[in-house]
Formats: sequence, structure tokens, C-alpha cells
Amino acid sequence: MGITIVVGNFKGGVGKTKVAVMSSWELAFKFKKKVLLVDLDPQGNASTLIARSLGIEELNKSIFDGFQKGDLTDSIVKDNEFLHFIPAQVSFKNLPKFLYSNFDNEYEQITYLKTLLQPIKNDYDYIFIDVPPTLSDYSDNAMMASDYVLIILQAQELSLEGAETYVKYLQFMVDNYDADLQVVGVLPVLLRPGGRVDISILEQAKDVFGKQNVFKTVVKHLERLKSWDVTGIKSNDHHDRNAHNLFIDVVDELLTKLKLFEKEGKYNE
Ligand SMILES: Nc1ncnc2c1ncn2[C@@H]1O[C@H](COP(=O)(O)OP(=O)(O)OP(=O)(O)O)[C@@H](O)[C@H]1O
Ligand SMILES: [Mg+2]
Repeated sequence: MGITIVVGNFKGGVGKTKVAVMSSWELAFKFKKKVLLVDLDPQGNASTLIARSLGIEELNKSIFDGFQKGDLTDSIVKDNEFLHFIPAQVSFKNLPKFLYSNFDNEYEQITYLKTLLQPIKNDYDYIFIDVPPTLSDYSDNAMMASDYVLIILQAQELSLEGAETYVKYLQFMVDNYDADLQVVGVLPVLLRPGGRVDISILEQAKDVFGKQNVFKTVVKHLERLKSWDVTGIKSNDHHDRNAHNLFIDVVDELLTKLKLFEKEGKYNE
């Protein structure tokens, strides 16, 4: 049964998409797991990056088609054995209208993705969901469909704002809609160049989220990770290898954390 993970933070441009894509990529191609990446952001950044990286020129599948049909099977791009993805296009901005006109019941509106993933979950080891940075039907659907959330922590900022808001909202969803997901970890990300981790932020994060929940691996700012937006993900030189190794460490730690939850009974492979 695929473990479903949403990468969360309610701030824009904090590295959510990069983490979702690179974690999926390493899990698939380095760890040889079967991975599905669901792009739930009408901007389609994750879809564009993966397509470019795999040399796919035209994306003729669409998540919104799957939502309208009530079946995501035909929306999955299966270019290779390990990494599949469901692409989003700008048309997906009409998701709220679609949900309101098709379901009267709020619970059905926010659990529609969960319903659609149910029949395909068994085909994957891991499913990642990339979301837009908004409190919206997109993030609600992602939360309700997920087993775990990987929270992005802006490690250079002087506040935990984006991460804390996310956790507060998560609690709201657990209390009001019986969302059944838990925080798998808090991943520090350095988005600005030349930055270093603000130690006081890490300490605050450990207080707020629990020491064991904050990743030891820090996603550094690497120009190579940024330039892959244009070139696609590469493996040509030592800068490429550096960037891959960073996310191999992220995935290693993620898998260790998931195993711990397994012992506690939440995670059953
Ligand atoms: N570790 C990194 N080093 C350098 N650049 C990065 C890194 N992570 C992300 N970036 C770049 O920062 C920008 C924002 O990253 P990304 O798109 O992943 O953020 P996001 O949180 O998904 O944004 P949005 O909220 O708009 O969806 C992108 O140009 C991306 O290439
Ligand atoms: Mg994004």
C-alpha cells in the first residue's frame, strides 16, 4: 500500500516543489521504489520539472481530466518503471468550481482526491503530493488523502511562521474532519544563497515540533538545484552529484523516520 506524503508549508517559494520532486526522483531511481508524484498545483511546476528531466516534450495527460472522469488511471504519465506522475495544468484552477457543483457535502469535496487515489495506491510504494502555498481545496484534499506530512522549515528566517501555520491548520483538520495524517518530520531548507542555518530557528523548531522530528539533513542552497529548473535534472558532473547526494540523505532520513512510525503501528508496508 503506497505511503502518501504531502510536502507542506503555507508560504510561497520555500522549496516545497523542489523537495517533492527530488525526494520522488531519488526514491525512484536511487532506491528503486515505485513512486507516484501527484501535482496538485495548477502552476504545474513539478510536472514541468519532471517532464523536462525525463525528456518528455508534450504533456497530454491532465489531473483535471481524471478529476472530471472520476478516475485518475488515464492521467498517469508512465514513462519509466519507477517514477510515474500526474501532471497539472492551469485549467486545474477550476477545481473549486468543479467540487462545489458536483458535491453538496463539504466532506466529499475535500476527500475527493483520497477517493480517487484509493484504487491506485496499491500500485506504488510512495505517493508524493505537491500543493500550492494556499489554504484551499487543494491543500485540504492533499491533507485528507495523505498519511504523512513533510513540513518545510525556512531555516534562514527569524520565524517559524509558514511551518507553524501549517501545523495549526493540520490540527484543525484532524479535529474537524478526522484527517488521519501525522507529521513525519520537519525539513530545514536554505533558500537564499550564501545563507547558513539560523541555529535559534532550529532550536525553536525542536521545541515546537519535538527534537526527534527535525531532520538532521539540511537542504542547502545549491545553484545547481535551481538551474535544473531550466535544464532538467542531470547527472553529469560533481555539482549534479552533490545535489543528488543531498536528497539521497533526505530520503534516507525520511525512510528511517517512516520505519519508526511503522513500529508504532501507523505505517504498514
Ligand atoms: N535548495 C535549493 N537551492 C537553490 N534553489 C532552490 C532550492 N530549492 C528550491 N530552489 C529554487 O527556489 C525557487 C522556489 O522553489 P520551489 O518552487 O520548490 O518552492 P515552492 O515552495 O514550491 O513555491 P510555490 O509556493 O510557488 O509552489 C525555485 O526557483 C527553485 O528552483
Ligand atoms: Mg511549488
